[in-house]
Amino acid sequence: MTEIHELTNVFEYLPDAVVLTDRRGVISGANGQAAALFGYDPGELEGREIDCLVPERLRELHRGDRSRYYGSMSVRAMGGGRDFAGRRKDGSEFPADISLSPFETPGGTIIISVIRDVTERVNLEEARRESEERYRALVDLSPEAIVVHANGIIVYVNEATVQLLLAPSRPALIGRSFLDFVPPAYTEEVIRRMQASPSEVQKAGPLLVKATRGDGQEFFLEAIASRITYGGQPAAQVILRDISDRVRAYEELRASREQLRRLSTHLQSVRESERGAIAREIHDELGGALTALKFDIASFEEVLPQGDAGGLRDTIVEKLESMSALIDSTVQTMRRIITQLRPVLLDSLGLNAAIEWLAEDFQNRTGIACETRIQGEDILSDHDRATAVYRIVQETLTNVARHAGATRVEIAMGIHEGTLRLSVHDNGKGVTDEQIRAPGSFGIMGMKERALIFGGEVTLGGSGEGGTTVSLTLPLGGRRESSATETTDHRRA
Ligand SMILES: Nc1ncnc2c1ncn2[C@@H]1O[C@H](COP(=O)(O)OP(=O)(O)O)[C@@H](O)[C@H]1O
Ligand SMILES: [Mg+2]
Repeated sequence: MTEIHELTNVFEYLPDAVVLTDRRGVISGANGQAAALFGYDPGELEGREIDCLVPERLRELHRGDRSRYYGSMSVRAMGGGRDFAGRRKDGSEFPADISLSPFETPGGTIIISVIRDVTERVNLEEARRESEERYRALVDLSPEAIVVHANGIIVYVNEATVQLLLAPSRPALIGRSFLDFVPPAYTEEVIRRMQASPSEVQKAGPLLVKATRGDGQEFFLEAIASRITYGGQPAAQVILRDISDRVRAYEELRASREQLRRLSTHLQSVRESERGAIAREIHDELGGALTALKFDIASFEEVLPQGDAGGLRDTIVEKLESMSALIDSTVQTMRRIITQLRPVLLDSLGLNAAIEWLAEDFQNRTGIACETRIQGEDILSDHDRATAVYRIVQETLTNVARHAGATRVEIAMGIHEGTLRLSVHDNGKGVTDEQIRAPGSFGIMGMKERALIFGGEVTLGGSGEGGTTVSLTLPLGGRRESSATETTDHRRA
């Protein structure tokens, strides 16, 4: 038995437990790892029956395996695919993996058994099974449609998926390619996502898909994918959500916003042309009448007889002169009203001159110092845009006079790379976000709308110390957003 002894010595250097048995099933050698694994003292196993290491219930099976094994004489694992167990000295058991190999010695064949304690693996498997059971129990009942696919093959769907897709049944979906259910337009994107890293997938967010139900009806779907382990394999879990209602509501909202914008564009335009018409009426009718009156008074003065008694003539002349002065000031007022109704200077001199005039007029009327810095060419040719800018400045200056309590205003305007930029800054008390967004702030709303028609934007900023700055950016050239406007009348008032 020296050979056995030497062999056992060699096995001391192996990490695994090794037991040597003879043909009768008697242990002829065991390394320290084997003794420790089965709860024996070193050397205590030698001479015992191998049966003592096998739980009673498995002994019959083990003997059968052993004798079959002698018949075939090849290296193989025992308990492959079958739960095998080792029995410790104290009778407790542990799940084990055993592999047997024959070894010829002059004293006859001995069997080398290598035994491995697989408690950890079995526990892990058990834990995995439990967690998968929990996952399924949860997901089975989820009202959200959930699909799990591994390498693109559907391995699990819940009932909600069947209902969402109007599929015949759950088994009808299992085993099919996930891509079969992806509309062609999205295939590329889905494949890209399937190949992306988990963090990239998360960053990409939900995928919006226009899909088709089993009955051929189209609907909108939101797909949120995440990586999971399913059946021990890497897989993807995809949550499918029917968002048709949301999409429809959004579409309706967008359409009604668009309609409102068109309406507002239309109203602005109608207002401009009506203002123009009123200004023209005032100019032609009232202006004409006032001019006629003035001529009449002048000629009346001429025909009065000279040197009459009682100073009657002087009294009449005095009256006539004050009437004439009143007509002059009425003409002035009429001019002012016309200018407010219709930016006359805009038509004749262009936007730059019109803004200069607005600033000067504002300063004269309010006593608030108004400075202008206007650069770049005029946008004379684009009457609609020029009107929009003019009205925005007009409304802004009106606001400064009414609300700001400012002593200074600076207007800066310039064109850079096809975009007109305007800013009107006052040193008043400033404006708050609440005031800007208040439902009654029609002036501000109107300015924003006017800019929006041309794809531009008006922003208000600054509160407290710095006063208020109204900024406008307005892309020049290109088409206006809506076709609902009528061209404004360009005739001068
Ligand atoms: N330059 C400004 N300085 C201070 N407050 C302002 C200024 N411009 C606008 N506001 C505030 O914003 C509100 C909304 O302005 P607006 O929409 O033009 O409406 P309205 O002028 O008819 O009050 C004003 O009531 C005012 O409180
Ligand atoms: Mg206002």
